Amino acid sequence: RLALARKTQSISTTANMSEENSGNLKKQLSKLFEASLRETVPSVLDVEPLVAACTAKFGDYQCNNAMSLWSKIKGKTTDFKGPPAVGQAIMRNLPSSEMIESCSVAGPGFVNVVLSKTWLAEKIQKMLIDGIDTWAPKISINRAVVDFSSPNIAKEMHVGHLRSTIIGDTLARMLEFSKVDVLRRNHVGDWGTQFGMLIEFLFEKFPNFKDVNETAVGDLQAFYKASKQRFDADPAFKEKAQKAVVRLQGGEPKYRQAWAQICDISRKEFDKVYQRLGVHLEEKGESFYNPFIPGVLEGLSNQGLVEESEGARVIFIEGINIPLIVVKSDGGYNYASTDLTALWYRLNEEKADWIIYVTDVGQQQHFDMVFKAAKRAGWLPANGSMFPKASHVGFGLVLGDDGKRFRTRASDVVRLVDLLDEAKTRSKAALVERGKAEEWTEEELEQTAEAIGYGAIKYADLKNNRLTNYTFSYDQMLNDKGNTAVYLLYAHARICSIIRKSGKDVEELKKTGVLVLGHPDERALGLHLLQFAETVEEACTNLLPNVLCEYLYNLSEYFTKFYSNCQVVGSAEETSRLLLCEATAVVMRKCFFLLGIVPVYKI
Ligand code: ARG
Repeated sequence: RLALARKTQSISTTANMSEENSGNLKKQLSKLFEASLRETVPSVLDVEPLVAACTAKFGDYQCNNAMSLWSKIKGKTTDFKGPPAVGQAIMRNLPSSEMIESCSVAGPGFVNVVLSKTWLAEKIQKMLIDGIDTWAPKISINRAVVDFSSPNIAKEMHVGHLRSTIIGDTLARMLEFSKVDVLRRNHVGDWGTQFGMLIEFLFEKFPNFKDVNETAVGDLQAFYKASKQRFDADPAFKEKAQKAVVRLQGGEPKYRQAWAQICDISRKEFDKVYQRLGVHLEEKGESFYNPFIPGVLEGLSNQGLVEESEGARVIFIEGINIPLIVVKSDGGYNYASTDLTALWYRLNEEKADWIIYVTDVGQQQHFDMVFKAAKRAGWLPANGSMFPKASHVGFGLVLGDDGKRFRTRASDVVRLVDLLDEAKTRSKAALVERGKAEEWTEEELEQTAEAIGYGAIKYADLKNNRLTNYTFSYDQMLNDKGNTAVYLLYAHARICSIIRKSGKDVEELKKTGVLVLGHPDERALGLHLLQFAETVEEACTNLLPNVLCEYLYNLSEYFTKFYSNCQVVGSAEETSRLLLCEATAVVMRKCFFLLGIVPVYKI
């Protein structure tokens, strides 16, 4: 109810005055075209300008409205003979602007725009002075919850959790960059019937479990497995384990204490991974929401949404033939009861406008049902593109060389720490082979190996559309050629070294020098730099990190082209070109930052 009463709004696509200062070219052009469309066909209301970047042959951007407008006015007007004439009128009515150098109409009415290179150069120079944050997306919401990583206590974090951690962190970073207040939530699986068997098992092994330290417990996952085997094989143990669940949930101190102890041991293991990945999360596990479940379900029951079905209490969802079970037939709560309650909490207590869940695609139906139940309850607007909004960010599997789910030789789940170790070891070996052990301090060697190794793992994951499965390959991700983090980190380090070796003070150049985009390759690089803002905005609003990776890779390609065709140091254009190098490095570093990759400055 509360959620419904709050102002619903859609992501603002219409530019406002402050947009003038943002780096978003597409939005600025859209604003100009919007004015022109209104002027051209006043009878057609609310036309969204269809503006997109296009291939250099025709121009930098293209407006694509003539055809659809024609189909709306055809037969009702004699003003135009066909779509090309509509296109001509759109072009004529375009308000004059410093950003546009020339326009032309092509084919069935496409309006092509060539941007002014003086204007582009000025914008880049302004960014260098005011900082890259002035190119941050403008997203019209206050707060987001990103629910990611979310491993399960006593079970190992697996590659699926790695994907969730990497993707979720990037999304959180992009939203934070957009000045959204982000609650980074670790929805740890710390509640449920598995604790009964695990606790009883540990009590048997360690009669004084309370005094046992974590190293003695060692591998919790192994205990979990063993307790499960015991549970399945031994009816007496099974009964004891089931009773333990009741005692735990009833709050019996000995059981509570053991539970807390187990969670703590797991948490320390998870934290090691987060620390190495540079990922920050705030834990609110399943147990946190437990006390709120009865109240939330009562509210839903009062609304008439909860029904009885085969002994369980369920919510029926239109279009899905299985209902969402919210109370099991034994009276217990489940994953869905917790998620519904967590959603309620996030909307009403935490006042989140956007709640984003990062899990494998296998959980898509679960979230679909939870969101639809929330819509039935009126917590979320029926129109899914309005805020407050809930989004499931699904991702595919990580595969091994054999094309099957990625596993170790013993066919166990791969341990994340082992993956990180291996990537670091390999990247360090590659650096040593290139003679860096003699050149650098041990600390530099370590830090660079980590930046490259962990960066490689992250980038290999993020560069694919998240829904596709990908094959985990150290050889591929640690290759210094092609679309890899190593290649990109080296490209960035090389730019830094060009600037360093010039002996010039870039801070001084920013103030006194002038950036000019004279050569076609300079212009192409400059235009791409200015497309950073609209790219991050797209990646962020569509929850697609691969869009940013593609941008970053193309950026390094544009730079390479520029650098091989335009002499920097010692040329007449040295100052301007050094500024362009600096702008490229700044944008690259921002991309790295948003992808959670630590840049390196020396190679
Ligand atoms: N613990 C779950 C798993 O490992 C993921 C939890 C995702 N978040 C949520 N709110 N359900 O599969």
